[in-house]
Amino acid sequence: MRVLAVETSCDETSASVVEMRGDRFEVLSLVVKSQVIHEEFGGIVPELAARAHIEVIYDVVKKSLADAGTHPKALDLVAATKGPGLAASLIVGLQFAKTVALAVDKPFVGVNHLIGHIYSAYLSDPDLRPPFLALIVSGGHTELVWVEGWYSFRLLGHTLDDAAGEAFDKGGRTLGLGYPAGPKIDRLARRGKRDFHRFPKPKIKRRGYYFSFSGLKTALLHYVRNKGEEYVRENLPHIAASYQEAIVQHLYDVVSRAYSELKPPKIAVVGGVALNSRLREVFRESFGDKVLFARPEYCTDNAAMIGAAALKKYEIFGEDGQGVGVYPSLGVVEV
Ligand code: KG4
Ligand code: ZN
Repeated sequence: MRVLAVETSCDETSASVVEMRGDRFEVLSLVVKSQVIHEEFGGIVPELAARAHIEVIYDVVKKSLADAGTHPKALDLVAATKGPGLAASLIVGLQFAKTVALAVDKPFVGVNHLIGHIYSAYLSDPDLRPPFLALIVSGGHTELVWVEGWYSFRLLGHTLDDAAGEAFDKGGRTLGLGYPAGPKIDRLARRGKRDFHRFPKPKIKRRGYYFSFSGLKTALLHYVRNKGEEYVRENLPHIAASYQEAIVQHLYDVVSRAYSELKPPKIAVVGGVALNSRLREVFRESFGDKVLFARPEYCTDNAAMIGAAALKKYEIFGEDGQGVGVYPSLGVVEV
């Protein structure tokens, strides 16, 4: 089974050709084009994102087919992300992919972006099988999911306010770092003292596996206002390291509670924030080889994970067909 998958839910235009043999996936090609226009605005501008997708989607898809040495006629399936994400951006990729499917008379499926992120774990470790625990940490999402089967998921908890990536990005803005700030904080923190300042631990009343980052973001804002610009500039690596530590420890606290209560055979960490070096260090120290981090190329948004999720979805549920639309607020584990 061979799929062409397209991903345009946010600010990456991506296409990939993926093959499934038995329960294993092989990525034959992966093209990702990241938009840079949003940097100057300090965040993603939906209208600009959609327009940028339109300009490059043809070249991105064409290159992914050429890199895989294939042609649309040789595909078994065409797929695209149907949500969650930015409506206008989703429409560009979904409509383009549906048109390819129509032109060569192939079945089409729409994929949940977050299920795609979960599938990045299978691409990173071909031996991984359900059940396992998945922590999705990205710019827009922080969710803990129990993966019961290939297409059977239980949402255990989520953030009650900001996503982990947002905590990095908004904190970075307060510290005068550009967007996205996650990688910048990560790099700065390597030469900073983690115990320089102790940010408050989030207090969560709701029972379950929930996260909260907005208090942390506010605490940083107050801290920076109190200390003044010069002090912050002089101690930037230390402040970045302390702030990062608070985010990482909170993620660790919730996941380690789930780990001891649910005893999963594996914990998969996926999404852009899974690239964070301190997060990797803390989780490795504690969970050892039980923790699996998505490979860097599959952490940030990419169409290979959408392709893998599409192949399994098609095998289990069949095609969606040309009638499928976009669902900007699709639920985390909605098929
Ligand atoms: O998964 P992703 O590419 O896009 C979404 O679906 O949101 O994640 C992007 C997020 C951004 O918030 C970015 O700051 C964060 O991932 N990020 C990091 C690192 N690299 C990317 N956060 C912390 N440390 C990093 N090394
Ligand atoms: Zn994503």
